[in-house]
Amino acid sequence: MFKILSEQEIAPAVHRLVVAAPRIAAARQPGQFVIVRAAEGAERIPLTIADADSAAGTITLIVQAVGDGTRRIIEQARAGSLRDVAGPLGRPTEIERFGNVACVGGGVGTAVLFPLAKALAAAGNAVTAIIGGRSKGLVILHQEMAEFCRQVLVTTEDGSMGIKGFVTAALAELLAAPADSAQRPAAVYAVGPVPMMRAVAEQTRPAGIRTIVSLNPIMVDGTGMCGGCRVTVGGQIRFACVDGPEFDGHAVDYAELSSRQNAYLDPRCKLDEQLAASQKKGSRA
Ligand code: NAD
Ligand code: FES
Repeated sequence: MFKILSEQEIAPAVHRLVVAAPRIAAARQPGQFVIVRAAEGAERIPLTIADADSAAGTITLIVQAVGDGTRRIIEQARAGSLRDVAGPLGRPTEIERFGNVACVGGGVGTAVLFPLAKALAAAGNAVTAIIGGRSKGLVILHQEMAEFCRQVLVTTEDGSMGIKGFVTAALAELLAAPADSAQRPAAVYAVGPVPMMRAVAEQTRPAGIRTIVSLNPIMVDGTGMCGGCRVTVGGQIRFACVDGPEFDGHAVDYAELSSRQNAYLDPRCKLDEQLAASQKKGSRA
């Protein structure tokens, strides 16, 4: 059992959990994740370790309660403990001194970006964070990022906070700066929805700016055995849980990643559509 020390809803359905996990806190490096089971027999959910305090023996997890598995994690966390927290898993982020780095986070992907940005700043990089959400209430961790980033740019699709538009609008401005300016990034880290990571990679490709993305395909065992998290990078098969989750953003096959992520969603959506259509006609499904 892993004791929950605090639980806070930081945006609608997005929760921050502080978990007592001393061995994971001591071993964890930025970019790694854990697999959580809320209770005996519950679904295994991979979650990035957003932060850790080895002195206090705690790790911080950020969970978007969108499905049965993640909602159950929140229910159990509110009850005081989680059954299993296994990790740290995955390869740590390779931290280099690039100089200027842009860290781009879309929605809940910002929670995955946070430890990478923090480690890049600690290594002496000047980090510009670009954090996007659909609206103000969905922008997370911008205040925490401001503690170690040179600047934090916020974008919202409805214009309720910061720059109106996608994160790519703010990134375009940085990329348009002269090559020797303090604005122009030598490397870009992007974490968020697949279309966002793909769009960022296409923006940086012409100038050959190194771009690292963190992928979140469906995971089951988290140990490279089941093949669930298979992705194609540079024409090679990779398993995100053991070879990643971070990869060269210019080499990822995003179309395959999207299609594999939707593999379990599509039939359910189609069934919902069929049920709705048959109910409309007054027939039995
Ligand atoms: P969202 O759909 O609200 O998007 C958040 C922001 O991302 C947008 O406001 C915009 O700035 C940017 N964005 C989205 N689509 C874009 C596009 N086509 N071009 C440019 N920018 C774009 O995100 P959300 O609902 O908060 O997050 C859920 C998504 O994040 C899911 O798709 C989930 O799979 C993904 N996610 C990814 C990771 C990861 O490790 N890569 C981790 C957590 C969540
Ligand atoms: Fe099973 Fe990666 S989750 S191989």
